[in-house]
Amino acid sequence: MEDKKVIFSGIQPTGTFTLGNYIGAIRNWGSLQEEYNCIYCVVNMHAITVKQEPSKLRKNTLDAYALLMACGIDPEKSILFIQSHVKTHAELSWLLSCSTQFGELSRMTQFKDKSRRHPDDINAGLFTYPVLMAADILAYNADLVPVGIDQKQHLELARNIAQRFNQRYGELFTVPEAYIPEVGAKVMSLQEPSKKMSKSDENPNACILILDDKDTIIRKFKRAVTDSEAEICYREGKDGINNLMTIYSSVTGKNFDEITSEFSGKGYGDFKLAVGEAVADHLAPIREKFAQFSSDKEYLKKCYTEGAEKALAYSQRIVSKAYRKVGFVDKK
Ligand code: TYM
Repeated sequence: MEDKKVIFSGIQPTGTFTLGNYIGAIRNWGSLQEEYNCIYCVVNMHAITVKQEPSKLRKNTLDAYALLMACGIDPEKSILFIQSHVKTHAELSWLLSCSTQFGELSRMTQFKDKSRRHPDDINAGLFTYPVLMAADILAYNADLVPVGIDQKQHLELARNIAQRFNQRYGELFTVPEAYIPEVGAKVMSLQEPSKKMSKSDENPNACILILDDKDTIIRKFKRAVTDSEAEICYREGKDGINNLMTIYSSVTGKNFDEITSEFSGKGYGDFKLAVGEAVADHLAPIREKFAQFSSDKEYLKKCYTEGAEKALAYSQRIVSKAYRKVGFVDKK
């Protein structure tokens, strides 16, 4: 365990994951487990920065945990846990917030977007969200953080916070690097392909959820917005087709040239159907495993309890050092 690099990442339990979450992040989490020490977290504390129905949040958190297992995260190989079970995250977040500037947080595009979307609830947690995210990562001295491109700015901030803390108090934190996939770092909406695919999209046809059934997936792809040409190739200005090619490439492993020749002479209808079928076939085993994991509440509980114990032991060493460095008095 000791000499491997450390990976940390998290996902919000705000409903079933999207195909964007899957291709941009979660799929890579599974494949990194052999080579790295992986630590993955359901970030329910981040989720409450926008209003949540408590009973729904509870269910979504357990479902998200089971869904990560269904996507191949093995709690025997990785530390898989629920953020609110591990107190070091909130503790370190406070320390780091005192090394973070108001101006830096004001520049975060997700804060600006979410403030625009929820003008009646621009709470302080929404503003300091990236500090908690930095704490998640720095509490484990993570080297690499596998995320989609939309988290890059938050990660840059985490790096700046780590460097600033180290300069001020002496070397402690590893400065983490983003691990962003070459293909699929930003999966776009099927209805407005210039926009990121997101579960908060009001149009249900814009977004594939990874538990959607085959018919739903195919129907959504059939309705995907493309362009008025009839050429299946990856080119600037063809946002819809580029997105479908990216998705098809991600689930089949074929590169863009191979896809173009596979569909030469065929129409967009054939291509959309092929993408829908490939995605549905790829996701089918995840649906099955999810049904299995989510129904075994005892096993799930055992996994997240053990995960939290391991995460606490791991992060406590680093957070205790941070406490000492800032000048907090030891308890014993
Ligand atoms: P969240 O829950 O919004 O998304 C989880 C992961 O999915 C990626 N993602 C996408 N990738 C490609 N295309 C898309 N359309 C798409 N939509 C989402 C995100 O980039 C992310 O990697 N702040 C984080 C959660 C977090 C975290 C952390 C991540 C909290 N603490 C520490 C890494 C490390 C978030 O809201 O992700």
